Amino acid sequence: MISLTINGKAQQINVDPDTPLLWVLRDELKMTGTKLGCGMAMCGACTVHMNGSAVRSCSVPLSAAQGANIQTIEGMNSPAFQAVQQAWRNLDVVQCGYCQSGQIMSATALLQTNSKPTDSQIDAAMMGNLCRCATYHRIRNAIHQAAD
Ligand code: FES
Repeated sequence: MISLTINGKAQQINVDPDTPLLWVLRDELKMTGTKLGCGMAMCGACTVHMNGSAVRSCSVPLSAAQGANIQTIEGMNSPAFQAVQQAWRNLDVVQCGYCQSGQIMSATALLQTNSKPTDSQIDAAMMGNLCRCATYHRIRNAIHQAAD
């Protein structure tokens, strides 16, 4: 049994502790806002916050989340998240949309630690989030707008 907090709610999860957090979120808790892309920590589609930092939930075993505070996109409401969400809408960032919850989670994690990132800081923070529609330019502009 693993105990953790997800979006402010205490949870006790009784599955194999080697199960990746992503599968717990999607299959056990039916929280499907977090997406499966590569399943190998390569694409960022599955990004959630663990104790405030962006992590790849496909590669975090449930056992590593014991006692952790997990935030998924369904539970986000910080000022940084709201600014990111509004900028994403303003600049019409999304194309197919599949990677975007992960993009938004990484962008929010960046702005929660760096309220005015430079282009190179944005690129460094976001380089692990791939987008097959290549919305990178709009993502960078939206992060700048959210930081204003
Ligand atoms: Fe986790 Fe690609 S699905 S990094």
